[in-house]
Amino acid sequence: MKFLVITYGCQMNVRDSEAVSALLARQGYTTAEGEADADIILINTCSVRGKAEAKALGKLGLLVADSRRHHPKRIIGVMGCMVQRLGTELFKKVPGLGFAIGTHAMSRLPRVLQDVFEGKAPVLDTDEGDDCEALTGHVEGKLSAYVNVLLGCDRRCTYCIVPTVRGQEWSRPAESVVAEVRELVAQGVCEVTLLGQSVMNYGRRNAVWPDGSVSPGGYETPFPRLLEAVDAVEGIQRVRFTSGHPSGCTAELVRAMVELPAVCEHLHIPCQSGSDLILERMRRGYTADQFKAAAGALQAALPGVALSTDIIVGFPGETEEDFDRTRAFMEEIGFDNAFIFKYSPRSGTPAAEWPDDVPDEEKKRRNQLLLGDQARRVEAINDALIGAQLEVLVEGPSLRNAARWSGRTRTNKVAVFDPVAGVARGECVTVVVERVTATTLYGKVS
Ligand code: SAH
Ligand code: SF4
Ligand code: F3S
Repeated sequence: MKFLVITYGCQMNVRDSEAVSALLARQGYTTAEGEADADIILINTCSVRGKAEAKALGKLGLLVADSRRHHPKRIIGVMGCMVQRLGTELFKKVPGLGFAIGTHAMSRLPRVLQDVFEGKAPVLDTDEGDDCEALTGHVEGKLSAYVNVLLGCDRRCTYCIVPTVRGQEWSRPAESVVAEVRELVAQGVCEVTLLGQSVMNYGRRNAVWPDGSVSPGGYETPFPRLLEAVDAVEGIQRVRFTSGHPSGCTAELVRAMVELPAVCEHLHIPCQSGSDLILERMRRGYTADQFKAAAGALQAALPGVALSTDIIVGFPGETEEDFDRTRAFMEEIGFDNAFIFKYSPRSGTPAAEWPDDVPDEEKKRRNQLLLGDQARRVEAINDALIGAQLEVLVEGPSLRNAARWSGRTRTNKVAVFDPVAGVARGECVTVVVERVTATTLYGKVS
């Protein structure tokens, strides 16, 4: 039987989709080329904004209708955050679904499918139970991979549904993280991204190191120690992690980023707003100045570090003045990249009880303004890179022009260059930047 997984949502969902695909492949299923030849289509869903759910629900409706007409035996399933949030309601919203599995049920998918084959559809599994250990996934031929280190989230940002759908924070034992990275390297991976909603909280809730172990680098807190252990895996060329939070940007974390050769000068650290009033109502746990201090410490210690961020515009009560603070704040920090979201009330969160008082048109306007600012900012940042020599991890022929090759810098920028003899995919080369656009650096191997 052939399956297809379609993914919405964040990197955690990308990772989960890879894990579920690997699991199905081990069970003897094969990958479909597209929707037309798939016997099972599984949609991995996100609940973070209303739009994300609407998109998945729309897609599911179309798939069910198409299957009824043209592929009556095809099974349509759903997984991920929206399943955890909606439960059986999902079957009312989309009649005709075969099954739905929540965020803690992936390893039980074969059993769920068995039930469907026995005629028990629709089958729902939103039970608890951690299956992260048992399930890792790697897409053959890929140079980079996501590795879960911290599941769930213990923060309670007032707008956010993630803690509800992903559960309590739980850190994987360091040994199994390192074992997975070793395994990935053996399969040809040279870059890993360690994943956690607030990844620097790693090891705060549960013990992650065997008793008595000592970090050779003298790191005391669990996350820098984990970075050191992953950096030490033979053959790993690059280590990234996401998402950051100012509280985790300790002197030790900064030292780890400076000292550990594979750890890249790049961090996604969502600030959400530059207004203290809004930050407090969002319950983010920092002020704009504290965020600036954290970003400043990274920028001072790691010249050229690229910081990216997330911003929410139109949070309840956000005035023009609050918004202006955010604009100025983003300029002051000089983010390399920013994902801007219009606030979307999520039922069950504290902020959903407050009036959603910024009209959609105004949210749109603020969104556009920040996008414009960001485009200008990145242009200036990239312009300043002309003439720089940057380490690029070679990925292979460029998508746009196969005669040229592309790769990524340590700061996660795409670099395009002419291939040279003896340089292979998965190797690092030095590229001298000659020309830039907002999204790409062009140059030649030095
Ligand atoms: N754990 C990460 C963020 C995960 S959700 C962190 O806190 O750093 C990804 C992004 O979605 C958030 O950073 C936020 O900008 C956005 N987001 C979350 N809830 C939202 C909502 N209700 N409306 C609009 N954007 C939201
Ligand atoms: Fe949501 Fe806040 Fe947790 Fe991020 S840290 S997942 S925004 S509750
Ligand atoms: Fe990620 Fe969306 Fe779930 S952001 S954790 S897929 S709600």
